Amino acid sequence: MDQLTLQKLLSNLPLGAVRYFHTIESTNDLAIRWAEAGAPHLALVVADEQTAGRGRAGRRWFTPAGSALAFTMVLRQGVGELATYLPRLTALGALAVCDTLNAALPPVTPAQIKWPNDVVVNRRKLAGVLAEAHWRGEQLTALILGIGINVAQASVPPPEMVDFPSTCVEEVLEQAVDRWELLRVVLKKLLEWHQRLEEPEFIRAWERRLAFRGEWIQLIVENQPPLEGLLLGLEADGSLRLRLRSGETAAFQFGEVRLRPQKPTQAV
Ligand code: BTN
Repeated sequence: MDQLTLQKLLSNLPLGAVRYFHTIESTNDLAIRWAEAGAPHLALVVADEQTAGRGRAGRRWFTPAGSALAFTMVLRQGVGELATYLPRLTALGALAVCDTLNAALPPVTPAQIKWPNDVVVNRRKLAGVLAEAHWRGEQLTALILGIGINVAQASVPPPEMVDFPSTCVEEVLEQAVDRWELLRVVLKKLLEWHQRLEEPEFIRAWERRLAFRGEWIQLIVENQPPLEGLLLGLEADGSLRLRLRSGETAAFQFGEVRLRPQKPTQAV
């Protein structure tokens, strides 16, 4: 891939601008610097390889050359209320990846969203989303939406790098995949859903794709004992609705929480 070929491939999409890199530390970091320097709304950074890709909660994200998709979009308009917008933005990336894969996957093993930001197939992760807010002083200047997709086998991280089982698009589709065509379709879906971010249907679509619904899960909040609950669905604002062991129903906001399915023996 190169800058001109990528620009041509994406020319029918209403993107602000496109920058392609063979190797970069992190497309999110580049997008933040570009946003500071005046990147337009819907500017896109794409890299073949990341040497310091970032995941949530300070984790590393593996993007070896020639096998994965790593890209970041800068959003500047219609940003609205940050507390509502940021969780939806994370879901937007995951929803776009799910819809793209579900057009090709059998309905019994769909791509689903492991709340809030992972895409899983057969309970294995193949994509992650990192949405970040960028401020200058007190002013929110841009939102950054970074998406990483494991496409070919070489992009599946070694087990010691991850705390959740991983897979890749080629493994679940059982066929070779054109990474750049995959990128084009994911971006198309993303831009379509972006128009609908404020609609109740956006949350319903997110909820329909929720992984582990009806299962007992653990929510892991930094520095606290794991919390167990039956995953019921989403609230209207995208927070996660659980039935706790006590029988109470509680909602959990997007933040530094991680979700784990419990072992099948503990499921009811
Ligand atoms: C996660 O699952 O923890 C989120 C992973 C997000 C990875 C993507 S790859 C493109 C963009 N650049 C980064 O450094 N991170 C995101």
